[in-house]
Amino acid sequence: MWEKIIHNYIEDQLKKSTLFIDESKLDINYIPEDLPHRDKELILLSQLFLLLITQPNSVSRKVLITGGIGVGKTVTIKRFCQIITNTAEKRKIPMEYFHINCRKERTGYKILVKIMKHFNKNFPSRGFSSQDLLDMLNDYLNRQNKHLILVLDELSNLIIKNDDIIYALTRINDEMLNASHRVSIIGVIKHISTLNNLDESTLSTLQSNIIHFNKYSKSQIIDILKSRVKIAIKPNVIDDNIIDMISNLVYKRGDMRNALDLLWTSIKIAEERNLKKVSPEFVRLANNKTISNFSQDLLISIESHKLLLLFSILNLLEKNKQSYVLILKIKEEFEQICEYLKLSILSYSQIMNYLHELEKYGIISIKIKSKNIRGRHAQVSINDLSLEILKNKLLSIFESRGLNI
Ligand SMILES: Nc1ncnc2c1ncn2[C@@H]1O[C@H](COP(=O)(O)OP(=O)(O)OP(=O)(O)O)[C@@H](O)[C@H]1O
Ligand SMILES: [Mg+2]
Repeated sequence: MWEKIIHNYIEDQLKKSTLFIDESKLDINYIPEDLPHRDKELILLSQLFLLLITQPNSVSRKVLITGGIGVGKTVTIKRFCQIITNTAEKRKIPMEYFHINCRKERTGYKILVKIMKHFNKNFPSRGFSSQDLLDMLNDYLNRQNKHLILVLDELSNLIIKNDDIIYALTRINDEMLNASHRVSIIGVIKHISTLNNLDESTLSTLQSNIIHFNKYSKSQIIDILKSRVKIAIKPNVIDDNIIDMISNLVYKRGDMRNALDLLWTSIKIAEERNLKKVSPEFVRLANNKTISNFSQDLLISIESHKLLLLFSILNLLEKNKQSYVLILKIKEEFEQICEYLKLSILSYSQIMNYLHELEKYGIISIKIKSKNIRGRHAQVSINDLSLEILKNKLLSIFESRGLNI
């Protein structure tokens, strides 16, 4: 019986049309060929590592990458390592890179074992000292005449433990005079202040080459989202206004991971509903799934006229399926509701005051399209709250206040 149920389920899922060209290209770990707005950082890295190609093993590099959450540190380093090792391969220069996440491999010893296992699957997990492992690594690289670029991602996990491994790895070639330089290191941390925990000699080695990754701006986030949409999602599923909405939601923190999550979840919602397009409401729903930053108490404290104005906005956004609505339209809709409830109608300037208040609460945002166009043509949008959820909350408040809408 189970076999049949599962079989039918899989068949049903297969019949559903997907909105993706290739879902894996939105995966957090996917490394895109193009990384918009990280060309400057890629060039800087290339400049630093150029000697590894022109004069193999004459130098080793120690570079530190800093920058906040989701600014593309990991993906840019991985892409860079792909590019440099491909270039080396074309020139028959033995070079490899290995990416280690120090949050997962929590001790220097585990990291060294992991590196050895990368070169030899059957390498034993126990039985050696750290110094043995370092010597074996050096021997191996010398025998193979190979250069290793070791990426120590989330390095702060090791730094705060004062693990000697960082020092040992940065000095691996220094002990022997005229020895070949076999290991380069790219360390990744979020805050430069983490370095305060390092001893002075390690600090001075790492501090010489620091590349800081700035937070992406709103328009940069838009470009990046577009580049990922192009390779991962079928045409016409995502409109520009959806991309705008997502970047509005994430740009303050500048976290691209969050942006890609929202994009992926909104597409999944559209697929679940068998629709061919992502609508603004799906972005709001996706966002409500990820962060719940809105309190019911706030709504309850707001006066009814203002809530009715908000209700008009919700109605219009629901009807027009756009991410924004014009103030002119809001006024019309609001007047109809007031008439229906036999409430006094507000003047245009009162409406504007109320809208600004709702904006201060963080419920709506108002965008003036152009200075030449008068205020009534300003756009009002609700970025991060699901209309469905908000509307239900409002209806229950109206009911408790005896307003029958
Ligand atoms: N310029 C870009 N182009 C395309 N995708 C990007 C770009 N920058 C970041 N991304 C994507 O955004 C997500 C987050 O990036 P990444 O994991 O590199 O951030 P991070 O700086 O390492 O963050 P954390 O410090 O939290 O680890 C990844 O899925 C990555 O592919
Ligand atoms: Mg990272």
